[in-house]
Amino acid sequence: MYYYPYVNRYIEFYNYSINNLEDFWAYQANIIPWFRRWDKVLEDNHPFYKWFVGGLLNASYVCLDQHLETYRKDKVAFYWENELGERETVSYYELYNRVNYFSKFLQDLGVKKGDVVLIYMPLVIDAIVAMLSVVRLGAIHNVVFSGFSKNAILGRIEDSKAKFIITATHTYRRGKKVDLLSVIKEINVDSIQNIVVLDRSGDFKEEGKYVKWPTYKEFVYVPPVPVESTHPLFVLYTSGTTGKPKGIVHSTGGYLVYVASTLRWAFNVDNDSIWWCTADIGWITGHSYVVYAPLALGITSFIYEGAPDYPDPSKWWSLIEKYKITEFYTSPTALRMFMKYDLKYVLDHDLSSLRMLGSVGEPINPEVWEWFYVNIGRSKCPIIDTWWQTETGGFMIAPFIGILPLKPGFASLPLPGVLVDVVDEQGNSLPPNTKGYIVVKSPWPGMMMGILNDDEKYKEVYWSKFEKMYYPGDYAIRTEDGYFQLLGRADEVIKIAGHRIGTFEVESAILENDFVAEAAVVGVPDEVRGEVVAAFVTLKQGVSVNEELKQKIIGKVREIIGPVVVFSSIFFVDKLPKTRSGKIMRRLLKAVVLGKELGDITTLEEEASVEEVKKAYEEVKRSIV
Ligand code: PRX
Repeated sequence: MYYYPYVNRYIEFYNYSINNLEDFWAYQANIIPWFRRWDKVLEDNHPFYKWFVGGLLNASYVCLDQHLETYRKDKVAFYWENELGERETVSYYELYNRVNYFSKFLQDLGVKKGDVVLIYMPLVIDAIVAMLSVVRLGAIHNVVFSGFSKNAILGRIEDSKAKFIITATHTYRRGKKVDLLSVIKEINVDSIQNIVVLDRSGDFKEEGKYVKWPTYKEFVYVPPVPVESTHPLFVLYTSGTTGKPKGIVHSTGGYLVYVASTLRWAFNVDNDSIWWCTADIGWITGHSYVVYAPLALGITSFIYEGAPDYPDPSKWWSLIEKYKITEFYTSPTALRMFMKYDLKYVLDHDLSSLRMLGSVGEPINPEVWEWFYVNIGRSKCPIIDTWWQTETGGFMIAPFIGILPLKPGFASLPLPGVLVDVVDEQGNSLPPNTKGYIVVKSPWPGMMMGILNDDEKYKEVYWSKFEKMYYPGDYAIRTEDGYFQLLGRADEVIKIAGHRIGTFEVESAILENDFVAEAAVVGVPDEVRGEVVAAFVTLKQGVSVNEELKQKIIGKVREIIGPVVVFSSIFFVDKLPKTRSGKIMRRLLKAVVLGKELGDITTLEEEASVEEVKKAYEEVKRSIV
C-alpha cells in the first residue's frame, strides 16, 4: 500500500517508544508539571505496575495553577450550555478561584488526603469544580453517572467507603426536571459525614448532614496537596463479566501524563481549539477527555447538559456552529440516532469550524463512518476512532497525528508506547486478518493500578488468561499493514449505547422481583444502541404469566440500576438451559433470540454435548410463552 509521509515519522517514533519504553515515557512526562521529579520511571511488580515512583504532583495544580502564569490565565476553560439555553463561561482563572473556594469549604467539612468523595452530579461546570476541589486536597473522587439510581450509588458507597457526597438538586433531560437529590435522600448511610448540595432550584433547605454548596464570595487560596505519583486520583466503577461493578483505580502521575499525551497525539488539539467531547463526567471518557486531558493541556472545551436531539435533532449541530467547535468527539450510538433523522437538520448548519472528528465506545460501522465523514465533517475532517477502556485510562489504538489513510471501521494503529497484538486462545500471535483476542504486551502509564479492595480479581480478570499480557476482553483482527479492527467484546459484557453493563447486575436486579425464580440476560444487536438486553425469566411456582410482569421487571431494573438498561424483549420460560456444571448457556439463549438455526449453535457451548444443546434449545423455544 502507499504510505503517506507522516506514516514514516510515526513508525520511527513508535519504534523508538517501544524499544526505549522508560526513556520515552520519562520524556513524555514533562507534558505536566511536577513538584518533585520521580526516582524511578517504572516499577514492575507484575501485574502491579507503578509509574514515576517518587514523583510528587497535584492534579488540580496540573489543570489550573500551572496556567495562571501564562496567557492562558484569562483563556476560556469551559463554555457550558443546557437545554433551557442557559449559558456559562469560565476562564482558567475563574475556575481556579472557584476550585480554591470550594476546596476550602470541603476542607472545613473535614475532607482530607485519601478520603473518598462520591460525586453524583449532572454535566455542569460545578461538577468539574467538585472533582478538581477533591483532588486538590489529595482526596479521591468516585463519580457516579447521574443516570444511575439508588442501588448503584449504595453499592459504590459501601465498596469505596465514601465519606462525603456532592450532588445537585436536579438536572433537565428532554425538557423534564430530573430530581437527583431525592435519589440521594433514599440512601441513608451512617458512614456518610456530609452531603453537599448544589441548589439549582433555590428551595433547598439545609438539614442534618445536608449542607448547601457555598456561594462564591472572595478569593481564598488552598495550597494543592502534593501527592505521590501513585496516589489514587479517582476510583470509577465499571461492569465486568461476573459479580458487581468493579472499582477501577487510577493513579495521579501516570494517568495525567497518559491522557494529556494521547489527546495531543490523536486529535492534535492546539491553542486555538474549541474541543467538544460529548461524554458525561460519569464515564471514563468524561474523566479523561472532558476534565483532565483538556485542562492539563490548557485548551478550551465546550460541554452541554442535555439530550442530543432535544428540542429537535439539530441541537448538536447548532451548537457546533454557535461555539465554532474545532474537534468533535462522540459515540457511534449518538451518530446512529442522528442518521435516522432528515439530513436537513445537519445540512442547515455551517460546520466549517470542524477540523477533526472522533469516535469512541463501540466499533463504528462503515456506514456510520461514511455518514459522519461526509455530512458532519463535510469530507474534510479525519475521523479519529479511538479504542480504549475504563481500565486503560486513555486512548490505546487511534490514528496518530496525520496518519493516513484512515479506513472506515478501523481504529488504525497503536499510539506510541503501546504494544498490542492479536493472539489465539493459547496466547500465540495470529497471522494477519485472523480474528483473535486483543492483548497489550507492555505496561503504559495510563493503566489502572488495580481494582479497589480486590487484588485477586484484578489478577484474575486481566492477567490470568495469558501470561504477562493484559487482557482487555475484546476481539480484534489486524491487517497486513498493521491496522487494527475491533470486533466487540469477547465476554458477557453488554454494551448499551456504548455503556458497559454486566449480565450479573441486570440478572440480580430482575431477581429482586419476588415472583421471579431465575433470570438470564444476553446482549442482542440493536440498530441505534448497538446492543440491548433480552431477558429469559422463570417464574416462581403458582405465578402465572401476564404482560404486567414484564413491566414490573423493567421497572425494577430501572429502579435498581437506572434507565441505562434498555430491553428488547423479556421471555418467560419453564427453565433455563444449563451445562452440567450449572453454567447458563447464554450463547444458546442468544441464538434463540436471533432465530439462528440449530446448526449454528451446536458448537457454541463448551461444556455440553451436541445432544444436550439441541435438547435445551428446543425446550427453551417451546416453552417461551
Ligand atoms: O469493547 C470495547 C469498547 O468499549 C469497551 C470499553 O468500555 P468502557 O470501559 O466503558 O470505555 C468506553 C470508553 C473508552 C472496550 O473493551 N470500545 C471502546 N472504544 C471502542 C470500542 N470498540 C471498538 N472501537 C472503539 N473505538
